[in-house]
Amino acid sequence: MHETASSIVGKEAVAAVRRPIETAWGLPAAAYTSEEFFRLEQHKYLRNMWMAAAFEAEIPEPGDAMPVIVAGLPIILVRGDDGEVGAFHNVCRHRGMMVLGKRCQGQKQLVCPYHAWGYGLDGKLIRAPFFDGTPEGDSKSALDKEALSLVRVRCAVWRHWIFVDFGGKAPRIEEHLQPLLDFMNDADVGAMRYAGKVEWEFQANWKMVGDNWENYHHVYVHGGVFAKMSDDIDVQTGKLWSAPLHKGCVLTLRRRIEAAPSYPFKDTGLPLIPFPEGKERVTAPNFVFPNVEIDLVRDNISSIIYEPVAPDRTIAKMGFFFLGNAATSDEHAEGRKIAMDRWLGPARSKDANDGVRNQDFRIWEAIQIAKGSPVADANVFSPLWEGNPHYFHNHILDYLEA
Ligand code: FES
Ligand SMILES: [Fe+2]
Repeated sequence: MHETASSIVGKEAVAAVRRPIETAWGLPAAAYTSEEFFRLEQHKYLRNMWMAAAFEAEIPEPGDAMPVIVAGLPIILVRGDDGEVGAFHNVCRHRGMMVLGKRCQGQKQLVCPYHAWGYGLDGKLIRAPFFDGTPEGDSKSALDKEALSLVRVRCAVWRHWIFVDFGGKAPRIEEHLQPLLDFMNDADVGAMRYAGKVEWEFQANWKMVGDNWENYHHVYVHGGVFAKMSDDIDVQTGKLWSAPLHKGCVLTLRRRIEAAPSYPFKDTGLPLIPFPEGKERVTAPNFVFPNVEIDLVRDNISSIIYEPVAPDRTIAKMGFFFLGNAATSDEHAEGRKIAMDRWLGPARSKDANDGVRNQDFRIWEAIQIAKGSPVADANVFSPLWEGNPHYFHNHILDYLEA
């Protein structure tokens, strides 16, 4: 694909993003509304990076498999007999049917529903019944089964997340996620356990996520969670309590747990996220480009894997993690409910306005409508609060202009 962002939105709009934050503009509205720009993002950006595909706990046992769409492409995630997670394009090598239609467990083979070709959990074609008129399918005429394996996608598991890299050239996953560990002060994320997920869809562009990586909106949008401006800023000095930082593919809003004034979280009796000896405990909502947020709170991790579906449509797969058996025990059921209420709201509805998630999604949907206006191009950033979204726009352009 030879197109660039400039060829779609114009050189001036790109140059405006590239300016220092004090005079920069954000990406123009067409970057949020046009099909052409969305396709460019899929080809040059999303398919050339590590994309989060699922939570590892969704396929816990050998023989478990699930279909997902990542960067617009159907893939299969499967746990092999050896316990390792693999990823394959969900495209049958016979006539191109999607081999796997829904999540399944305990499979020995993945069987295509169209003509029953069967693939092993390692992607190898095992059977093509009656292809040549014989039950085996290759008794009369040769069928190069090796060449007709499912096409593998590079894949990596990091803590609770399965990532895929279609281009195959992204740096090693440990390298990619090192800034995340740094921002979290090496919190023991692996000690957390998956407690389940909730899926909501919102009618807005996927980039709203990175655009939202600032605390400026907190008190205005998340009333009830952040009640006053002084929760986020020292109104005497104008200094923020949290650190909006960015490095590599990660944005954070890191905050010392003991930071003044009192941290706006209730004690729910849930065990706290462990940190290594000598490391200060922090909270750190993190956004890892391009599509996963991993939000370290005091006693839980809320993580969203975003699936960009269309310029104005995104699916949010929201998983929750708690320490050890607090993820499942009856004893902590009330604590989990309180923690999840904060994110999803007591009504547990995307259309309510009672949790951090539905409050954000509501704003993003309204921004998406406004992006259709001819006057929506020239957006400015606060150098104090909004360095992260400015960095995010520049990062995307690095790929789209290449
Ligand atoms: S398309 Fe899959 S078996 Fe024919
Ligand atoms: Fe928010």
